[in-house]
Amino acid sequence: MGVVIEGTGSYLPEIVLTNKDMEMIVDTSDEWITTRTGIKERRVAPKGMASSDLGKEAILDACKDAKISSEELDFILCATITPDKFFPSTACLIEHKLGLKGKVAFDISAACSGFLYGLEIARNLIETNTYKKGAVVAAECMSRITDYTDRSTCVLLGDGAGAAIVSSSEEEGIIGSFLASDGGYEELLHAPAGGSRLPSSFYTVENRLNFMKMEGQPLFKIAIITMCEAINKVLDKYGMKKEDISLVIPHQANLRIILGVAKNLKMPAEKFFINIEKYGNMSAACVPIALDHAHRKGLIKKGDYILTVSFGGGLTWASNLIKWTKGD
Ligand code: UT7
Repeated sequence: MGVVIEGTGSYLPEIVLTNKDMEMIVDTSDEWITTRTGIKERRVAPKGMASSDLGKEAILDACKDAKISSEELDFILCATITPDKFFPSTACLIEHKLGLKGKVAFDISAACSGFLYGLEIARNLIETNTYKKGAVVAAECMSRITDYTDRSTCVLLGDGAGAAIVSSSEEEGIIGSFLASDGGYEELLHAPAGGSRLPSSFYTVENRLNFMKMEGQPLFKIAIITMCEAINKVLDKYGMKKEDISLVIPHQANLRIILGVAKNLKMPAEKFFINIEKYGNMSAACVPIALDHAHRKGLIKKGDYILTVSFGGGLTWASNLIKWTKGD
């Protein structure tokens, strides 16, 4: 029995923040942001909209692509580091917003690698014959944990959601994954306050400790090394070669990181799907949105082998090897 991606979907809020807009907010320039990151603009959810709202729309879009009703879903797995609330889980809130109940619903906290972790969990839930069909969604309102006085992070981040419907099938689809983590680098990428270590207080708010903090330079190097490792490991594990891969769907943290991964692996940069210029870094939502856009642009054909690859807070890094089964 196989586990296939039956449909993909995405949702991006309408408000666009361009690099010119960022120039009005912090001491930066379109030239700096473009040359250092590849980003030209990003989306921001309006006041009152939260990750579950974005996630619900992405799942509905994916259900439409899969030609199913959301009632057919046995489970909803939501990858997010910007949940609506600490609890209940954003997955439960999405379930309710979809008008569903009684499903399996829980969140996955693996930062930018959350969607890839989710696909592997979903594959196992289905392959063990426990469930037949589910949605893996990644929904992020990064703008809510962005410090708009910190030019080194605020120009990078954006909001969005992407989803995949995953089902049992006679065909082979999600072949397998490589997942990894290292908690030793906690302080390179984190939100220091708001949890049980340093609960929110006047002090934490005054000192802007509830926002995301990042040490970009060391992360840049680790990102390239770990993403190359993830790709090599998953290919080795399943006896495949780089030449067998038609398209790589990478996490979109920095264009220079993606090109660095392609160069180190001696793979053509054209094999890496890139949409960072339009949306920036949306944490876990980057990969499923890129997958959905690549699919809708007709860049993935039935029978193609594709890879996802990501790196992010945790640290976590991961790759999924997928045989595409949609299309004629
Ligand atoms: O989502 C997964 C986790 N995240 C990542 O993987 C991100 C990895 N890191 C990066 O992508 C890059 O390190 C950044 C894009 C974050 C930064 O690029 P960089 O080339 O590493 O810049 P830098 O941090 O070395 O800063 C270079 C200069 C500094 O000025 P001085 O000290 O040389 O005078 C910064 O203050 O650029 C300055 N700078 C800016 N200037 C204009 C930093 N941010 C900005 C900005 N606009 N927005």
